[in-house]
Parts: sequence; C-alpha cells; structure tokens
Amino acid sequence: MMNIRLYLTFVGILLLSLTKVTAQVKLENLRCEMLENPLGIDVAQPRLSWQIVSSTRNTQQQAYQILVASSLEKLAANEGDLWDSGKTNSTQSIHVTYSGKRLTSRMQCFWKIKSWTTAGESQWSDSNSWTMGLLYYKDWPKGWIGFDRAFPWDNIKTESRLSARYFRKEFQSNKKIKSATASIIGLGLYELYINGKKVGNYVLAPSATDYTQNVKYNTLDVTNYLQEGKNAVGAILGNGRFFAMRQHSKPYKIKTFGFPKMLMNINIVYTDGTTSNIDTDDSWKGTADGPIRTNNEYDGEEYDATKEMVGWNKVGFDESKWLKAEFVQEPSGTYEAQMNENMKVMNTLKPVSITKIAGGRYILDMGQNMVGWLQIKVKGQKGQLVKLRFAESLQDNGELFTANLRDAKCTDSYTLKGGETETWEPTFVYRGFRYVELSGYTYAPTVNDFVGKMVYDNIKTIGTFETSNALVNQIFKNAWWGIAGNYKGIPIDCPQRNERQPWLGDRGAVAHGESFVFDNGRFYTKWLADIRKSQKEDGAIPDVAPAFWRYYSDNMSWPGTMLLITEMVYNQTGDETAIRDNYPAMKKWLAYMKDRYMKDHILTKDSYGDWCMPPITIEAGRGKSADKKYPSELISTAYYYHFLELMMKFSKITGDEADYKNFEQLAENIKAAFHKKYYNEKGYYANNALTDNIIPLYFGMVPKDKVNDVFKNIVYAVEVTNRGHLSNGLIGIQWLMRCLNDYGRPDLSYTIATQKTYPSWGYMVDNGATTIWELWNGNTAAPNMNSQNHVMMLGDLLIWYYENLAGIKSAAAGFSKLVMKPEMINGLNHVDASYQSPYGLIKSNWNTTKTQFTWNITIPANTTAMIYIPAGSPAEITEKIASIKALKFIKTEEGRAVYEIGSGNYAFVVNKK
Ligand code: BGC
Repeated sequence: MMNIRLYLTFVGILLLSLTKVTAQVKLENLRCEMLENPLGIDVAQPRLSWQIVSSTRNTQQQAYQILVASSLEKLAANEGDLWDSGKTNSTQSIHVTYSGKRLTSRMQCFWKIKSWTTAGESQWSDSNSWTMGLLYYKDWPKGWIGFDRAFPWDNIKTESRLSARYFRKEFQSNKKIKSATASIIGLGLYELYINGKKVGNYVLAPSATDYTQNVKYNTLDVTNYLQEGKNAVGAILGNGRFFAMRQHSKPYKIKTFGFPKMLMNINIVYTDGTTSNIDTDDSWKGTADGPIRTNNEYDGEEYDATKEMVGWNKVGFDESKWLKAEFVQEPSGTYEAQMNENMKVMNTLKPVSITKIAGGRYILDMGQNMVGWLQIKVKGQKGQLVKLRFAESLQDNGELFTANLRDAKCTDSYTLKGGETETWEPTFVYRGFRYVELSGYTYAPTVNDFVGKMVYDNIKTIGTFETSNALVNQIFKNAWWGIAGNYKGIPIDCPQRNERQPWLGDRGAVAHGESFVFDNGRFYTKWLADIRKSQKEDGAIPDVAPAFWRYYSDNMSWPGTMLLITEMVYNQTGDETAIRDNYPAMKKWLAYMKDRYMKDHILTKDSYGDWCMPPITIEAGRGKSADKKYPSELISTAYYYHFLELMMKFSKITGDEADYKNFEQLAENIKAAFHKKYYNEKGYYANNALTDNIIPLYFGMVPKDKVNDVFKNIVYAVEVTNRGHLSNGLIGIQWLMRCLNDYGRPDLSYTIATQKTYPSWGYMVDNGATTIWELWNGNTAAPNMNSQNHVMMLGDLLIWYYENLAGIKSAAAGFSKLVMKPEMINGLNHVDASYQSPYGLIKSNWNTTKTQFTWNITIPANTTAMIYIPAGSPAEITEKIASIKALKFIKTEEGRAVYEIGSGNYAFVVNKK
C-alpha cells in the first residue's frame, strides 16, 4: 500500500515537473511573411516566424516542428497534410521557409509550431493561418469594368474634378454558404460593400503603385457579409494616384493612368462542396452621378448628400437610371498580392478649441499637426453647403496659413440633405493639418461636433522611448506623429502641399530610425519593390518611386536610398530576401552610374548636394526659398564608396564572390582618389564643411593616421563655429549623431539634440512644431518649399536615441545578436525604452545618480547580447535577480564591464565610488 502511494506521489511529482517545463516555454506572435494570419498571399514558399517566451534565462531553441494542414480539424489532430517538418534540429525561429506540398490559388493553410529549447519543450502553439491569393492570371475574371470618360459634371483639366464611380450587382445564392472570399483590384481606390455593409475596416485601399508595372489586389473574407438568397454587392471607385491629381499638366513629369476601374471575383464555397463565382462584367450597373462629386488627393472631396442613393448597395435598389458597366482596358501592370498593410483610421482626436472669426467662420484647432481627415456632425437645411479648409498653421491675424500648400486646395465640402443631424467624413482624400476653417454654419458649432481621424498604414507602434529630458521626449513625440502620418502605402515626403511624393532621399537613414518605433518591415519591402520596378532598362533609378513624378536626375544620394533601405530591412527584420530580390537592380544601377559619370574614380554627378542646409542665421534665410541645389562631387563619390561597402556585405549573402572582389577593388581606388582630391593637410576635406568631413569619416574613408585630425575639425565646427549646433542639410544629418557618438563625443550629440536655438529640433518645438519641419528655418523661410510635416530632417536622431541612448542595437540580422551599450552623458539621468524585435521584446531602462547606476534589461529568447555596463570593474556590479558571477564576463573596455548574456530579465546595480 505504502509503496503504491509512494509510487503515485512520485509519478505525480514527475508529471507536475514535466508540465511545469512545458508551461514555461510559450510560443507567441506567429507570423507568415511577417504578417499576422494574412489572406491572399502570393509567395510560393512563405516564411514562418515565431517568438519564444520563457522565464528561464539563456533560453535557446534547439529544434522545432511545424505542421501545416489544409483544415483546422486536421491541424487539431496533429496531421500536417500540407507540411510536417518533423522535429528539425535548428535554432532558426524567424523566416523558416515552408517546404511542403505545392500551394495553389485560394488554398487555406492552417499552421502551428512546437519548439524544443534549453528551457524545455513548448506545447503546440495556437493555430494560425494564411490563405493563398489568385496566383495565376487565368484565375482572375476577364472583365475590368469602369467608365473610360468624364461625365458632364466632371472637369478633367489641370485641377481636375472627377466624381467617384459607383458599381453594383445583385445575385442569388441558393445554397448554404460555407465561406466566401473577395479578391479585388479597385483602382485608384475602392470601398467594397455587401448587403449595405462596408467590407473590412481599412481605408484608401489599395496601396499605390506604378500601375503600368504592377497593381495590388486585396483579399477579403466576406463569409459573414453574404446571406442565403438574394445579395447585393457594391463598390465605389475613387481616383487615388490612378487618375492623377493634376491632369494635362506637365505631362513630361506627371504620370497618370486613366479613369478608375476595377476587377473583382467573389468566390463562394457552399457547405455541399460546390462553388460559384461572382465576377465583374458588363452585367454590373454603374453611375458617376452619386454624392461624391469629386475626390482629389490635393484638393479635397466634395460631397452632395442630396445626391445620396439610399440603398444603392442593398438588394432591391431601383437601378433603372444607372448605366451598364463598361468593359475597359486592363492596366498593363502585373497582378500582385498586397503584402503590406492597408491604411486605417488609427487614432481619433478631439479638437482643443473653436474660435469665431470674421464672416461667420470658425477656426478649429486639433492641437496637433495630424494627417487624415475631419468627421463632422451638422444640422441644417437641404442644399446648405458647409466648407472645411485645412492648414497646418495660422497667420498672425488668425486666418489659415495656406501659402505653403502651393496650389493644393485642401478643402472638403458637404452639401446637406436637411432634417436630422447629419454625420459625414470623406472617403478618398486625406491631408496634413492642424487647423480647419469652417464656413456655411447657421449656428455656432462646438468642438463636440468634430472628430479628427488620423489615417495611416495599419503598422503597429513597436517602440517606446522616454528619458529624463522633456525636450528629447517631445521631439520623439513629434517624430512619431510625422512618421506615422507620412505612411501612405508609400513613404511620402509631406502630406499637405501639391506634392506628397515618395522622394527617395528623404528616407535614407530616417527609415532605419523609424524601424525602432514602427513595425515597418513589409512597408519598406513593398517600397523596395516599387523602386526596383521604377528602374529603367539602362539601369537608372529615379529620385521619386513609384515615379509618379518622373525624375531620373542621376545622382548617388536619392536613388542610393535603395541600398540603405535594403540594409535596414535586412538588419532590423533579418529578411534576406530584401538583399536577394534587390541585388541585381542595385548592382546594375552602380554600374550605370560608374559608366556614365566616374572619371578618375571620382563620381562626377550629383543633384541636390546637402539639401536644405540651414542658412547661417535665421535672418539670412528669412523669406528665402530653400529650393536651391548645391551639387557636390564629394558627396556623390563618398556615397559611391559607401554603397560599394554595402554591396560587399550583400554579395556575401548572395554568394557572389567575384562581385565582392570587384567591389572591393573599386572601393579601394575610390578611397585613394577621394583622399587625394579632397584632403587638405590641415586635417579636413574640401571646404571643411561639417558634412564634407562627417561622411568620409563615418564611411571609413579617412586614413587611420588622419582620423584624429578630421574628427578634431568636426568637433571644432560643432563646438566653436556652430556654438553647439548642427550645420547640416539632409545628407549630413543622416550620419551626424552617430559619427559624434562613435568617435567618442556622445555629449556633443546630446548638446545638439537638446538645443533650443536655431538650428535644431528643439528650435522647431520651441516655435510650436508638433511634427518635424522640412526646413531648419521653417518659421521664416519662403512658403513655397516649407512643409511643417517632413520627416527627412530627423536624420539619424532616432537611431541615436535607440542604439546609443537606450543601447538597443542589432549586431546580427534581425536582432539575433544585440549590442547594448548605453551612453552615459552628463545631464541625462534616465532612459526607458522598449522595442519589439523579431525575436521578442527588448527592454532597456537605466537610471543614474551620483552614487548609483541601475539598469534593468530584457533580452528575448533565442538571442544573445553583448552588454556594456558602465563600471570600472566587475567588482562594482551586482545583479539583483541572480548573481553577477553567473554571467560570462568578457573584458573591461573604456570604463565599461562587458558581458555576454542570453535571454531573460536582468537588474544591474553599479555602486559608484
Ligand atoms: C521634396 C523633398 C525632396 C526634394 C528633392 C522636395 O520638394 O519635398 O522632400 O526630397 O524636393 O528635390
């Protein structure tokens, strides 16, 4: 008896300890192609990623098993009929390539994973899924529909006004529906409705592309929108970038693609296993005589509620006045699944004030320069017109400041239908604004009648950042608003004036900084494809991509952003395909530039120079336009050198060994020629401008024995000549903070970062900026090129915030290895930052006082970190959770004790002597 009891207790303990082991390791954030349960992907062998969460330190994966099944039932029964990887010994937990049965159009794939780690075996993860899109051209219906013409109420001259096009169709579904999927290409923009309900919660879809190269399709699960019996499907088409904002204007420059059009298939699967398809064809009906009278990204939307067609997207609507939908030409671009997020209303804002001004008008203040639109509630008579004009700031007299919008009207109008309170917001436009002028009201509206809707790509904020310095924090906030607002399926330069173009140069280093705050991997992967597709046959890459504006000006710094973004996507997300997919285009472009413009190893062609350098004083720039180019062969040659270094790194990944040697040889020659041409024995390059010295130094072009002299001149320029300020335009600012930091003067970076006088980020804040300005002198320069919401001047500030102030830096692709080396700077006592890396959450929270330094960090499972603790020796350090002695000490270096550690939470304390 006793024995049995003992035995049972033993078994009980054993079982308990076993379940304890498995419960300690959890698998979370499963991703397919870096997306959460995506619908309609078109990757033949998608890559799967997961995060391991474990409370045990040093957790490393040893093996995994992936099951992919064609149904949830099979997956639940552990039957991976599409793929069973078996227990695979591997540490890889991100971007694991699917290697199962061939995937075909419309396939549903359910998957889960199990992981064996040093901390034990996990249970099976939750089930996740992806579906395949329409992979082949033949899977799509034949019929693109639209109206390839303007209607009498339209105007398609320069400042075009084109009404939205509405399409509808009713159909019968006589059997019980199991599932239904819509695949849609609605160009420029679409909204889809089924039985009166809008499908999905995103807006301004799909992402813009050069439609002659590729068009994006979206896949939507419409199962719950359909019903047995009669159904109605409706779609509204807006212009987006397809029918360009300016027609017949500068045709040498502005691309336009035609009148809106769409292609759609709804595939219905019945419970009895049969299927049916609803396709676009000329059985559909259409009209352009609906309430959206015009929609123009620059100028705004005009909505006439008296033209509403009640029930147009429901069964039973009288469509007798509608026209037969017309078959139209298909766009020449290939059909591709949209693998980046669509836009959504991501945030709502309540106005902070409303003020009456002359002429019965009102000025609404949103309290924040934001991007999106305004929802209004209004009551009045039928036919009454309410106008909303938008601007980023006000003039001294309280009126809107619209001079910096150039000819963009940024005006919405709403014609009331009369009666009850009416609620309205536009469908196909957005703009950057803080203030709204309201006119046409017969009563005094209040702030409660308005909601600001902030619209940008549905990209998660994955980074937090706070310090003991309020200005640093405010600049971070301004950056967040600016970056988010300028995500529009493409990274636009600015959201307000008649531009809004994806200029390449603006994002060189900024995109890397953005990636600490926003989960922008797919977004920038899509943009890389846009850039790749904009390359000309001869190799030229434009300054704007997609090339909605045709600028093939041949320079290194704008097109070369392609290489910087490729490196960024690889480093930050660990995705090697960024390199593989873009390598041939980047190589071809470098060869193109060399063949045409390299003379004696100097790249002789540049366009913009150090774009938007600050005028020497605020007065010197008053009223002047910044639209001046100072081409610099020094910049183009240094950039060529830097890009060769990147290509060497890339060629190691692609395995192009011969390329590596060629790049290396050319880089050596350029370095020598550069030094010979530009170096002055006084220890500086060219004219000793800050940017002229920073880029060769940061790019590693300065001979070792000259490094100190060059850096001395950089320090002199910042400390003495500029009295603690920067003096860089777009090029220099991308390397400035890191350069000062890495050569041993993080305090100088900090001085620059916390300046409040001109030119600085703090100067912008001090002058009321709630985003980042295009110009350092944005409050006094001429308005024609003076946006109040441009991200480019952030340069490498956010990179420095995260990598050097917080000490969160990727040391191997995707943060599989980390370097954590926070800078101790006089005046900065506290930094608290977190970052959701591909492997999981990284945290760094430090505090320093006269007597003590404390540092709490979190390292995700399956990664390791080299950490640099500011302490003279290990003896000064304690670790509160376990013991410092348990950690692998590497060395002491420049006042820091260096350890190599694995995953887990750590709490270090250094008692200062
Ligand atoms: C844009 C910039 C762009 C520049 C280059 C400007 O008008 O707004 O951000 O990079 O032109 O010419």
